[in-house]
Amino acid sequence: MEVIVKKDYEQMSRLAAQMIADVVRENPRCVLGLATGSTPLGTYKELIRMHKKEGLDFSQAASFNLDEYVGVKPTHKQSYWYFMYHNLFRHINIPLENVHVPDGTAADVEAHCAWYDDEIERWGGIDIQILGIGGNGHIAFNEPGTAVFSRTNWVALDKRTIEDNARFFKRKSDVPRFAITMGIGTILEARRVVLLANKASKAEAIAATVEGPITAIVPASALQLHPNCTIITDRAAAGKLKRKYGSTPRKLPKVRKKK
Ligand code: F6R
Repeated sequence: MEVIVKKDYEQMSRLAAQMIADVVRENPRCVLGLATGSTPLGTYKELIRMHKKEGLDFSQAASFNLDEYVGVKPTHKQSYWYFMYHNLFRHINIPLENVHVPDGTAADVEAHCAWYDDEIERWGGIDIQILGIGGNGHIAFNEPGTAVFSRTNWVALDKRTIEDNARFFKRKSDVPRFAITMGIGTILEARRVVLLANKASKAEAIAATVEGPITAIVPASALQLHPNCTIITDRAAAGKLKRKYGSTPRKLPKVRKKK
């Protein structure tokens, strides 16, 4: 697990966007794993800028989102489909037929979840998965107590997650109680994982994820099992880490050839 601590949200977002852009440039037919929430918004803004100003081309790329509320239509303003369309998809040239967000209105939710995992496989697996983290350590909607090798599934949302998300709804009682989420096992199958965290409210969860034991109480701690996982934070979210971490991706020094 590599930890990179950037000065602020802008720098964190720029680095994450750069990592995604590198994957897109290296393999235009790449599969991106995407998250919603406030954390990746800066990253999406930077990707949109790169698309518009630098010609970053998503025309052959595909994407899979982490999660969606059960019972919420894609047209609902709080649906994750709506979020992704307005904050990213409509501003870049990714073909909409290549984007996947779990269907919260699926008639058979369990069959849909199994299909979603199969579909990720059919597209060749996720090349780079972007994650945010909940204050309780959740990744996607995998709440504390989720098994490390869980697959895409429907879940009941944690009390704290409902409270955290209440700000997006008129009333707390409007927050959906269930969601479809990629499993932790599904996330661990991505070739590369990048988790982003900013603000002091994430500091405890980040410390537990990076420096604590792997435990179901902190779902993000399962990322310690991933061979290619990068955690990028701002200084506030790194505030409770015990060790010091670098501010740039690690790089092997060039070996000088002997004459
Ligand atoms: C969203 C998701 C969630 C969020 C997490 C942090 O697709 O999977 O796990 O990443 O709740 O949310 P924000 O970024 O709003 O703090």
